[in-house]
Amino acid sequence: MRVDVLLGLQWGDEGKGKIVDVLSPEYDLIARFQGGPNAGHTLEFDGKKYVLNTIPSGVFNENTLNLIGNGVVIDPVIFKREIENLQNNGYDPIKNGKLMIAKKAHLILPTHQLLDAAYESNMGDKKIGSTLKGIGPTYTDKIGRKGLRVGDTTLPDFDQKYQRIKEQHIKILDQYKYDYSDLAEREAKFFEAVELLKNMPQVDAEHLVNNYLKSGKKVLAEGAQGTLLDVDFGSYPFVTSSNTITAGACTGLGVAPNRIGEVIGIFKAYCTRVGGGPFPTELDNEVGEELRKIGHEFGATTGRARRTGWIDLPALKYAIMLNGATELVMTKADVLSGFEKIYVCTHYEYMGEKIDYMPYDINTVAAKPVLKELEGWHEDLTGITKPEQIPAKLKTYIEYLEKELEVPIKYLSVGPDRVQTLILK
Ligand code: GTP
Repeated sequence: MRVDVLLGLQWGDEGKGKIVDVLSPEYDLIARFQGGPNAGHTLEFDGKKYVLNTIPSGVFNENTLNLIGNGVVIDPVIFKREIENLQNNGYDPIKNGKLMIAKKAHLILPTHQLLDAAYESNMGDKKIGSTLKGIGPTYTDKIGRKGLRVGDTTLPDFDQKYQRIKEQHIKILDQYKYDYSDLAEREAKFFEAVELLKNMPQVDAEHLVNNYLKSGKKVLAEGAQGTLLDVDFGSYPFVTSSNTITAGACTGLGVAPNRIGEVIGIFKAYCTRVGGGPFPTELDNEVGEELRKIGHEFGATTGRARRTGWIDLPALKYAIMLNGATELVMTKADVLSGFEKIYVCTHYEYMGEKIDYMPYDINTVAAKPVLKELEGWHEDLTGITKPEQIPAKLKTYIEYLEKELEVPIKYLSVGPDRVQTLILK
């Protein structure tokens, strides 16, 4: 068996959580492979809404095992809150044994959060737009070989290791003259939450995943954020601190590249981006405002307004290439209902030339979108359940995108609820 991978092809918030939840009955294991609690996967069903930050989106399916992989960074306090939220709503992934954590996943410490804030406040007008959850500094320590891992929580020298890292962080905070007077309070919460982690099933995730594959079980790797935020291939430095692409599933779970199966790429029928960085098709006008309003484009975790724009083909083609996407899911098609015209960016105008790729220096020299106009549709999509009910103009939009992207659009999402999902192929 092979691991299927599901990930975002844009700048995140494509609706991965909803689609993982929809697909989870087909899988025995859902494994999150990167990112931290900056992810806010929103799921809706039976009239209720749930936001997951660290826990995989298969948690509502009682037959699916959920794994937090070694590529993820974990804030024990946020993790504990997520567990309690689920328990309060009648789901207890601890009691039913359906949630496991990789021993090799790194921990976000209270001082990582303080460092994140200290670095960002020192950036002036060059801010990355960090969510200030300590994710960047945690990955920095991981690569710098100084981090603390989930598996360390059960070892006798955990406290000593913690103190050593904390002292190093405090030296940096002092250099930045950053106020850390609330550290003791943060630490109290941290250590209380670590108790929960200690009692969780901590596993050698690479063995678990590969044993599942060997025994013929189906595994889905769940990504967070999006391809255009990848630390290597996104618009650096306006990126996240991990590899969000398919390759990240290999390192984030311990799966060999030749074990990757289908790669399911998710994109919105338009584009959004949170935080700083280039966004060629951005609509900084009333059309953009309308997209934001109709699409409820405000962060699930931070509440920040998302920037909005038309769909960007050069960016999507780049993402499909990097990931080897074999099938696509288009979400939020319902948000475009009622727009007289829909636009698609086919190329960029860049330094006097027409180009069809994302240029290296896009941060300083803007790429101007070359737009193709398509007819919009007026029909409300939120109640449709069959492909035959798709309005003709939306069909044209889908067919045009498939031709350009050269990958089939297999699912169409027409609303936030589980049931608002159409299988097209
Ligand atoms: P990140 O890992 O944080 O990038 O999250 P994500 O990709 O899971 O997306 P997120 O849940 O942050 O954002 C998607 C939002 O759109 C959520 O509020 C979903 O409930 C909602 N959503 C998902 N699919 C659709 C859809 O087809 N139509 C509409 N109107 N909303 C949708």
